[in-house]
Amino acid sequence: MTSPLYPDLPENGLIVLIGASGAGKSTLARTWPASQVLSLDGLRGVISDEPGRQDATGDAADVLKLILERRMARKLNTVIDATNVEQSVRVELVMAAKRHGMPTVAVVVATPLSVCLKRQGPRPANRRVREDVVRSQHQAMTYSHQRLAAEGFNTIVFADNLHRLEPFLKRLSQAREADLGRDGGEGLGDLLLVRRFFGPEILPLWQWRPDSDLVTGRDRVAEIRLGEQHLTLAFRNDVDGDGDFGFGFDVLLPCPFDPECAGQAWAPVYSVTDLHEALTGAMDGAPDIVCTVHGDGVDDQDADPESRADLQAQFADAVA
Ligand SMILES: Nc1ncnc2c1ncn2[C@@H]1O[C@H](COP(=O)(O)OP(=O)(O)O)[C@@H](O)[C@H]1O
Ligand SMILES: [Mg+2]
Ligand SMILES: [Zn+2]
Repeated sequence: MTSPLYPDLPENGLIVLIGASGAGKSTLARTWPASQVLSLDGLRGVISDEPGRQDATGDAADVLKLILERRMARKLNTVIDATNVEQSVRVELVMAAKRHGMPTVAVVVATPLSVCLKRQGPRPANRRVREDVVRSQHQAMTYSHQRLAAEGFNTIVFADNLHRLEPFLKRLSQAREADLGRDGGEGLGDLLLVRRFFGPEILPLWQWRPDSDLVTGRDRVAEIRLGEQHLTLAFRNDVDGDGDFGFGFDVLLPCPFDPECAGQAWAPVYSVTDLHEALTGAMDGAPDIVCTVHGDGVDDQDADPESRADLQAQFADAVA
């Protein structure tokens, strides 16, 4: 039942966040799984490419209502991330839930006006809400509170009294444990490191080349490929040989010292920006390129002709 502290939210229901821009609704909404959150900003973005585009609000609201209806029919927990300070908006949402016998929860995000206003500052210009608009949203939020029960909400609660940090951390923890393979699954293994360096989006394109151990015997070769475009990378374990820097990645570049060079020129990459530069040629001639034939181009003794031949054979195998 409705309790001011630690309310028992229904396992599946309609959760309507109510608050001015900058109150922290979207931050709170992120404590639920993304698939459960219907965000008006998000849908404005889907429709117009611009989440802050006001002339897309009507279209976005139409889509939101359609999805809500379908989710309620499936009895799925759904969180509405929008200001929801207008009674007419809330009534439509509640009606959708009631049509399907789903419980309704109003969550009032009653952050002080001064905080809501201050939070507009750091936002990009096209996401910033005008002061007078935030002010009237805040006023409407305050006024909403006394009407929510009459509107049919089964539970009315202030956001501050929702204990959402715990389920949020639980979900993050489960995802992390799964990445690490501690949940009995496979885990990401070496891809954890790839993700840390280059971000999660790279993972589906990342392919280790089996049976390659270039240079130190422990290095591994990988490829990032999409169609014809690709990068070849080597995973370096113990980069500088003395354990100061335990691991890293090098990317394969054209040899800057001799266009006919049959060796492999490698340069360290630390970020997805480096990958972009390597692909576009912006890294060609970078000062930290080391070629298996020419070394760093300064000291010829870096090149070891015997191991080089072996490396070339390994490389040919690796990227074949
Ligand atoms: N509980 C919180 N603690 C600290 N900062 C927060 C909290 N909730 C939100 N914020 C900050 O306030 C800003 C606006 O939050 P947001 O969730 O986007 O608001 P809304 O969706 O209501 O417009 C964000 O930059 C966020 O980091
Ligand atoms: Mg928001
Ligand atoms: Zn070379």
